[in-house]
Amino acid sequence: MLILGIESSCDETAAAIVWKGERILSSVVASQVLTHEKYGGVVPELASREHLRKIVPVVDEACHRAGLSLAEVDAIAVTEGPGLIGSLLVGLVYGKALALTLGKPLVGVNHLEGHIHAALLQNKMQRLAGEPVQEARFPNVTLVVSGGHTSLFLVETPSPQVKSPTPVFTYRRLGQTRDDAAGEAFDKVAKLLALGYPGGPVIDSLARFGNAQAVEFGRIKMRGNPLDFSFAGIKTAVLYRVRGTAIAVEAEERRAWRKRVERATVDELRAHCSQATLHLIASFQKAVVRDLVERALAAADASRVDSIFVSGGVACNSLLRERFAEAAKPLGLQVFFPSPALSTDNAAMIAAAGYFKLLAGQCADVSLTAHASLPLGVNTL
Ligand code: KG4
Ligand code: ZN
Repeated sequence: MLILGIESSCDETAAAIVWKGERILSSVVASQVLTHEKYGGVVPELASREHLRKIVPVVDEACHRAGLSLAEVDAIAVTEGPGLIGSLLVGLVYGKALALTLGKPLVGVNHLEGHIHAALLQNKMQRLAGEPVQEARFPNVTLVVSGGHTSLFLVETPSPQVKSPTPVFTYRRLGQTRDDAAGEAFDKVAKLLALGYPGGPVIDSLARFGNAQAVEFGRIKMRGNPLDFSFAGIKTAVLYRVRGTAIAVEAEERRAWRKRVERATVDELRAHCSQATLHLIASFQKAVVRDLVERALAAADASRVDSIFVSGGVACNSLLRERFAEAAKPLGLQVFFPSPALSTDNAAMIAAAGYFKLLAGQCADVSLTAHASLPLGVNTL
C-alpha cells in the first residue's frame, strides 16, 4: 500500500511516498524560508505563489526518489487544513486532480493529525530498523507544538478487546493555546532581537551560551482549563525587558549588520550578541520549555496514560527534548519524538496518517475542500 502524501498548509511544499504508514520511500520538502525571512514571518500571498511554482516538481521529485511512477501509487493523501487557505488550496487541488486523473482513492488529512502520526511513523521505522526502542502505545497524550499550533490531545485506538479490523484513531483535545503558539513566540522574540527567521532554531543554538537562570519569568497561570497555553504574556515580558535598554540598541545594530550580510552563521550571530542578550534568550527558552513540559505531564497524569508524543517544529528544540526525558523518567513515562525532519512540516506524516484513514474507509470525494480552521477531534471540555 503506497500512499503519496502532499502537504502545503504553510510555507513548505512537501510530497512523500510512504509504504503502509511505516516505511518512507521518499520525502521531499521545498522550504520557503528564503522568501519569507526578510519579513520575519510567513507572507500568505507569497507562500501561495511559491507553492504554485513548487508543487509539480516536488511531487515529481518524490516519485523519482522512490523509483516509482505516479501510476504505481495506491492512494493520495492531502492536507485539508488547518493552515493558510491559499497555500492549502494549491496542494489540495493538485492532489484532487491527480486522484481523479489517475483513478486513485483520495484522503483528506488534518495537519495536526499528521503531526501526531509523525511520532508513530518514527517509532515504526526505528523498530523496523531493529533499533531497541519501546513500541509506541495508545492511549497517549500528544503535544503538537509548532509555529501555528500548541495543543494537547488524548489519542486513542480501540482496545484490543474490541474486534476492529483496522485501528481507527480518535482524538480528544485536552487543551490549546489561547493566543500565540510556542513556535510563534520563538519567532517573534527572534524578530524583536534581530536574530533571523525562523527564530526557534537560532534561539535553540544561541541559548546554550547564556545563563537560563539570569532572568526570571514567572510561571504562566491559566484560568479555567489548566491544560490550555498562553505565550503572548512571555513575549510581552521579553519586549519590556528589551525596550529602552542597551539590548534594544544592540538589536538595532544587529538588524543593520544582518541587512549587509547574506546569511549569518550561529557563530557570527553569537559574536554580535552581548552576554545580556544571550542570558535573555536562554531564560526565555527555559520558561517556554518548562511550561510545555509541565502541562504535557499534567495532561498525561490527568488522562492516566503512560506515554507522551511530542511533535511539530518546536519538538526539534534540544532543551525541550532534554527536559522531557529528565522529567518523564522518574514518573515511568515514555516520551516519543519524531526525528527533526519529521517534526517540522513534511508530507510523510500526511501519507502515514492517510494510510490509517484509508484503511478505515474514510475516503474523500471531489467535494473535498480546504479549511483554514479545522479542529481535530472533540474538545473534552
Ligand atoms: O511544524 P512547523 O514546521 O510548521 C508549523 O506547522 O508551524 O514548525 C515551525 C516552527 C517555527 O515557529 C520554528 O521557529 C519552530 O517550529 N522551530 C523551533 C525549532 N526548530 C523549529 N522552535 C524551537 N526550537 C527549535 N529547535
Ligand atoms: Zn505543522
